[in-house]
Amino acid sequence: MVDRLLKSNSNIVLVGFMGTGKTSIGKRLSSHLKMRYIDTDNVIERDSQRWISDIFEQDGEQAFRDLESEAVIKVSKLRNHVISTGGGVVLREENIIVLKEFAIVVCLTATPEEIFRRIGHQTHRPLLRTPDPMNTIRDMLVDREPFYSKADYMVDTTEKSFNDVISHIKEIYNSSISS
Ligand code: S3P
Repeated sequence: MVDRLLKSNSNIVLVGFMGTGKTSIGKRLSSHLKMRYIDTDNVIERDSQRWISDIFEQDGEQAFRDLESEAVIKVSKLRNHVISTGGGVVLREENIIVLKEFAIVVCLTATPEEIFRRIGHQTHRPLLRTPDPMNTIRDMLVDREPFYSKADYMVDTTEKSFNDVISHIKEIYNSSISS
C-alpha cells in the first residue's frame, strides 16, 4: 500500500537493477495504460549530447549521478508518464523522495542468473565492464538491496512474461490511485 494520496494522472516510476526489464516493460506498460513514456538515461544522453558510457569514462560516476539527479527533477514534474530510471537512481535518497511525490515507485527484480542471461553479453554498461560480470551482479545486488527496498512495491520478473508483469503493475497502479 502507498502511504500517500495519488491522483489519476500520477506517474509510474520503474526502478530496479540493470536488466530487470525497466525499459522493455516500461514502454509496453505505457501503451497499455495510454500513458507517455520517458527514461532518465535517455534524458541524460539527450540533454548532455553524450553517451552514458562516455560520461562515466571521462567524468566519473559521481558526475553521472549529478546529471541523473537533474534528470530526476525534470521527469518528476511530468504527469501521466511511465518513467524508467537507471539502475542506480535509488542510491541517492533525494531522488526517490522527489519521484515519490507524484508517482508510485515499482521496483522490478530478477535473480542474478536471469539478469546475467539477459544482459551478460552486452557491453555498454560501464559498471559491468569487469573481469567477472556475474560476480559483479551478485555483489551489487547485495549492496543495493537496502536502496531498492525503498520502492513502494517489488515485482519479480524472473521467468514471467511481459504480459504477466504488466498486468501485475496495472493492478498495483489502479489500486493505488483509487485508494
Ligand atoms: C546504472 C544503470 C544503467 C545506467 C548506468 C548506471 C547503474 O541503466 O544508468 O550505466 O548504476 O545501475 P540501466 O539500469 O537502464 O542499465
